[in-house]
Amino acid sequence: MSKPLTIADLKTMARRRVPKMFFDYADSGAWTESTYRANEDDFAKIKLRQRVLVDMTNRSLATQMIGHDVSMPVALAPTGLAGMQHADGEMLAAKAAEEAGVPFTLSTMSICSIEDIASVTTKPFWFQLYVMKDRGFIERLIERARIAKCSALVVTADLQILGQRHKDLRNGLSAPPKWTLNSAMQLATKPFWCLDMLQTKRRGFGNIVGHASNVSDLSSLSAWTAEQFDPRLSWDDIRWIKDLWGGKLIIKGILDDEDARAAADTGADAIIVSNHGGRQLDGAPSSISMLPKMVAAVGDRMEVHLDGGIRSGQDVLKAVALGAKGTYIGRPFLYGLGAMGKEGVTTALEIIRKEMDITMALCGKRDIKDVNSNVIAQNPF
Ligand SMILES: Cc1cc2nc3c(=O)[nH]c(=O)nc-3n(C[C@H](O)[C@H](O)[C@H](O)COP(=O)(O)O)c2cc1C
Repeated sequence: MSKPLTIADLKTMARRRVPKMFFDYADSGAWTESTYRANEDDFAKIKLRQRVLVDMTNRSLATQMIGHDVSMPVALAPTGLAGMQHADGEMLAAKAAEEAGVPFTLSTMSICSIEDIASVTTKPFWFQLYVMKDRGFIERLIERARIAKCSALVVTADLQILGQRHKDLRNGLSAPPKWTLNSAMQLATKPFWCLDMLQTKRRGFGNIVGHASNVSDLSSLSAWTAEQFDPRLSWDDIRWIKDLWGGKLIIKGILDDEDARAAADTGADAIIVSNHGGRQLDGAPSSISMLPKMVAAVGDRMEVHLDGGIRSGQDVLKAVALGAKGTYIGRPFLYGLGAMGKEGVTTALEIIRKEMDITMALCGKRDIKDVNSNVIAQNPF
């Protein structure tokens, strides 16, 4: 394929390069995947106002998310197993994000560890926390994020138990892949991926193995998740984490206004309106459709961010117009990573940046900080 021009181009390239079990792990939602599809489809229902004959020079996408300067209101979302889309994937993505001037969020379930990311970056990154039953392990994880100088903690609230993604079960997803006929066939057709992977030692869950008690092998993600993630997680735990961490706190996975108000009551700095990219409650509404309600509920008390379904700079602009102070991309950067490693993540960010910039200009705006509902022609939500 010639130079990728869209996130869809990167997805096509990733599908060719990445073994099926890991490509599908990214490109999947829970059960019927209806929420996964709605996240993307609902962005297309919002129409923009075309404006003409206004000065379109000297445009700026630079803004702030939770007080941090960002070159555009886009962060990389935490995604588990990014180091299986490409060898050392999280380290490559973190470097691409740093060069692009946007935040990188490392997942608890990453392949590269917190310390690995700190060793290849010069600016602080963000760390996403899954809360496990073993609170001692959580305390140590938070301490490791502090030592690594992470500048925000993103607590994920919408995965106390794991939604079922059929493809993962059918493909026998594990990290590292288990040797079965099924996995051997998936790997045999992806020689470049295999060659890269043979050259790194990072093939397990870097934040967990060797750190959590009694865990040496985590090859079955769903079994470990079911056993370890805390289904009793409560707002009191969020307050405990906030006190323990003492820094900027973002609560991820809010889709309901009552929950948004409870999140604001904790004193957190931001919420992420999110349904985990359609990977948890299938049948939940798209995140963009719930954004206006969340902004109305708590927008005057904390920052409201959004993820889910962003596939272009136009989508980011629409989210900002509906009140999001920042957005996150999950699959778009994973496709870039799978397709071309670090260069692919840079490409994904540049595609989104360019689309956002031109869209903003054609809507008659020059500064992302001036973009509001005024640029929307039709909002079905
Ligand atoms: C492959 C994959 C792995 C993910 N792993 C995590 C994770 O470890 N922690 C988390 O909070 N969210 C995780 N998410 C959810 C993302 O952070 C984000 O909410 C979602 O990807 C946004 O939707 P998008 O992919 O349409 O941009 C994951 C998403 C994907 C696609």
